[in-house]
Amino acid sequence: MAGSVWRSILSQVVGGAVKKPALSTFSRGIQTVTLIPGDGIGPEISTAVMKIFEAANAPIRWEERNVTAIRGPGGRWMIPPDAKESMDKSKIGLKGPLKTPIAAGHPSMNLLLRKTFDLYANVRPCISIEGYKTPYADVDLVTIRENTEGEYSGIEHVIVDGVVQSIKLITENASRRIAEYAFEYARNNQRSSVTAVHKANIMRMSDGLFLRKCREVAENYKDVKFTEMYLDTVCLNMVQDPTQFDVLVMPNLYGDILSDLCAGLIGGLGVTPSGNIGANGVAIFESVHGTAPDIAGMDLANPTALLLSAVMMLRHMGLHEHANRIQTACFDTIREKKVLTKDLGGNSKCSEFTSEICRRVQDLD
Ligand SMILES: NC(=O)c1ccc[n+]([C@@H]2O[C@H](COP(=O)([O-])OP(=O)(O)OC[C@H]3O[C@@H](n4cnc5c(N)ncnc54)[C@H](O)[C@@H]3O)[C@@H](O)[C@H]2O)c1
Repeated sequence: MAGSVWRSILSQVVGGAVKKPALSTFSRGIQTVTLIPGDGIGPEISTAVMKIFEAANAPIRWEERNVTAIRGPGGRWMIPPDAKESMDKSKIGLKGPLKTPIAAGHPSMNLLLRKTFDLYANVRPCISIEGYKTPYADVDLVTIRENTEGEYSGIEHVIVDGVVQSIKLITENASRRIAEYAFEYARNNQRSSVTAVHKANIMRMSDGLFLRKCREVAENYKDVKFTEMYLDTVCLNMVQDPTQFDVLVMPNLYGDILSDLCAGLIGGLGVTPSGNIGANGVAIFESVHGTAPDIAGMDLANPTALLLSAVMMLRHMGLHEHANRIQTACFDTIREKKVLTKDLGGNSKCSEFTSEICRRVQDLD
């Protein structure tokens, strides 16, 4: 299938608002999903998601795979072949957090996964959760981050002792691809505007190219309003009034930082879902918080971020009824405030929070 067609279909189903199944092949029978539980609290929150899916009778078969970096032929770092094969077959993954040992000699596993499956778009809807009070109300925006190049291209070297150079790589193809994804997403999810976030006033060539491609693509989407804004201006405006933003598209580093900032507006990484969309129909949905080593194994973790990422995944698969039921049960549990994990202001264990959502999911049957 042509890349642009895939982009159109995928951008429809990642958004929360679309009810119609977009891929008929995903909407029938039991589908296999590659589950990467991850490290630290990863196994606990993955178990929580599996239990809730079971309570909802979601037609998913989990294929569990661990990913630890291994050396392949020629000494190149790669993910284990059984994990790659599973993803190649299922095309869909759900991933818990992975620890990134500093100076371990291998690249970050998250980065390796992105590279292996060319997961070029990171999509994070940040929508205020009713009943979970933060200083901001009515936040409803989506950050779309270019995931494959920019400041994270991994090209760094020592020029002379004490002087290190890091290359920010921006290409025409990757910039056009992410801009097209952002506009398709906006169009298919009834969102009215796309803002390109940049620093082309300083990085004239690299961000200049990114911005030029956004402008060119915008020409083909006259029904979607296009604006461009400096990163620093976006940060200032965002903390003053986030409701003015809709879809934001940006290069890698800006997206990494801004998407966390936006997650903070709705309550933090513990409640923010995320999807990584790749070429050829591959997608991996993940919680974006870390492994929380301080509470790992203590039944204290909040599984909401992974659960809402799994809800995004269900929509991606056209399983909207299951997605809506699980999301409603989760939001109702949070709104009622009776059974909440500590980070959400409660005293309950991860397992108790999970059981409460399971109970509500079944009540919604
Ligand atoms: N996407 C990923 O895989 C990812 C993202 C960030 C960090 N990491 C890795 O995670 C490890 C720890 O990183 P860190 O300590 O900087 O960040 P962290 O997100 O693991 O922890 C920060 C704080 O948030 C809390 N927290 C995080 N998730 C929570 C949850 N679901 N429920 C309740 N509390 C939660 C932790 O207890 C801790 O107090 C590192 O190895 C880092 O590289 C992985």
